[in-house]
Amino acid sequence: MNHSHLSLAGIGAGPFNLSVAALLQRVPRLPHAFFEQKPAFNWHPGLMLRGARLQTSWLKDLVTPVDPTSPYSFLQFLVEHGRFYAFLNAEQPAVSRQEFAQYLAWVAQRLPTLTFSAQVRKIDHRRDRFQLRFDDRTVTADHLCLGTGTQPYVPDFAVQHLGKQVLHGAHILNAPRQFHGKRVAVIGGGQTGAEIFLELIGERWGECDSVAWISRRDNFEPLDEAPFTNDLFTPAYVQHFLSLSREQKQTLVARQKLASDGISPSTLVDIYQSLYEIQMVQGRNKDYALMPGRQLVQMQRHGDHYQLQVQHHRQAEEWLEADVVIFCTGFKSVVPACLEPLVDRIHWQEDGCLAMQDNYRIRWQGSERNRIYAVNASRHHHGIVDPQTSLMAWRGANIVNDLLGQPLYQLEQAGMVQWGVREPDKVRVVA
Ligand SMILES: Cc1cc2nc3c(=O)[nH]c(=O)nc-3n(C[C@H](O)[C@H](O)[C@H](O)COP(=O)(O)OP(=O)(O)OC[C@H]3O[C@@H](n4cnc5c(N)ncnc54)[C@H](O)[C@@H]3O)c2cc1C
Ligand SMILES: NC(=O)c1ccc[n+]([C@@H]2O[C@H](COP(=O)([O-])OP(=O)(O)OC[C@H]3O[C@@H](n4cnc5c(N)ncnc54)[C@H](OP(=O)(O)O)[C@@H]3O)[C@@H](O)[C@H]2O)c1
Repeated sequence: MNHSHLSLAGIGAGPFNLSVAALLQRVPRLPHAFFEQKPAFNWHPGLMLRGARLQTSWLKDLVTPVDPTSPYSFLQFLVEHGRFYAFLNAEQPAVSRQEFAQYLAWVAQRLPTLTFSAQVRKIDHRRDRFQLRFDDRTVTADHLCLGTGTQPYVPDFAVQHLGKQVLHGAHILNAPRQFHGKRVAVIGGGQTGAEIFLELIGERWGECDSVAWISRRDNFEPLDEAPFTNDLFTPAYVQHFLSLSREQKQTLVARQKLASDGISPSTLVDIYQSLYEIQMVQGRNKDYALMPGRQLVQMQRHGDHYQLQVQHHRQAEEWLEADVVIFCTGFKSVVPACLEPLVDRIHWQEDGCLAMQDNYRIRWQGSERNRIYAVNASRHHHGIVDPQTSLMAWRGANIVNDLLGQPLYQLEQAGMVQWGVREPDKVRVVA
């Protein structure tokens, strides 16, 4: 594809930018392209574990919430693959991550505006346009849409130990593993930790000598999927959230953690039932230590194994020996290296977060004619929904509307809860 000069250049083609790209198909006369460093679409391949299911409804796909007649919907995918009736009859509680990844890859294949094996190395701004440098060419664009995702996080003290025996869970499937006879420690009590613990006790990588699962949370806490919690993942709630102060937002993001980052209740049931089967029914008396309410604070290498220093929240310190340590300690937002030349021209909050606008633009010194949109970079500004798929189509539609300067997509949807202050005439005055 020839990219002489673009109106919009997307950096990264994960699900979030893929949604923007799919929604832009309704705008044929806007020259745009999305650049992805991978050779083909591949959604978190290192964590594509058997049986893992989406934590979000498949109806909240790349397009349906704002464009249900789009040819890029999950329903269209089912019909085209001849799976529609079988999918319904399977009565699955949630679509598998594998099938949703197939859907995403199918959309990616059909979009003519994606370019793979194209890592954006450097972005500069000269003479009213952005310059995107690749290994083999330069492309210019009026606007950018950053969709480079998040990076696996491990505590600083662990970075020096990363390797074959110490890894982030995000990479567990990226290499063959053999944990037979090993003492394995899983650090982190979110969904990733839960899924990997389940695989370990299911002996996917051999029969471990022991498995310890450490969570900083007070218990192995479930994802809150109740209806009023799910109302936090609606446009109406985001609109309310945007009206709050920075401090109020910070408090709410921390308080709402289990609405986005808890463990799926079905995974917790699978774990409990597996433990019951192994320990009680089969009587194998395996050394499986479930250790919530603790933080890993330090680790040292001793010969061919590691000593882990664990701080119990309410009691003393504990020490643990492990041959393999799997960090499931989450993901962090990072400024992509390619943005380095622009970093001084971008506005930052005092806490180091990007200064964002409600319309997903980053505040920067450039003019209106050169906008930088960002997806999955503003949990601090748009709330807990930002790193989730729930509103990806709605966010994509916001970006497309803003780019066009007109409402191509309808964005308003009613919610069930009055989140903000009611207007005076609607408040019933009791005499
Ligand atoms: C295992 C797992 C399961 C999840 N399941 C759910 C779920 O069920 N429901 C939910 O709501 N959320 C879920 N999430 C959270 C979130 O939806 C996903 O992380 C999602 O992939 C985020 O999409 P993204 O497009 O922002 O980032 P990513 O998927 O990380 O995509 C970013 C892309 O940018 C590319 N890139 C980076 N730098 C460059 C560059 N310089 N040039 C070109 N390309 C570049 C990368 O190669 C990558 O393909 C899950 C997360 C994980 C880790
Ligand atoms: N199948 C799926 O759909 C699927 C699979 C995987 C992930 N996901 C989603 O992807 C997102 C990321 O999930 P995740 O599990 O990778 O990350 P996460 O939800 O951020 O969980 C990270 C966990 O690590 C803990 N932690 C961090 N540092 C620690 C330390 N030093 N010692 C002990 N514990 C420590 C955190 O504790 P605190 O809570 O106290 O910070 C938290 O429990 C979530 O939204 C999740 O729902 C979905």
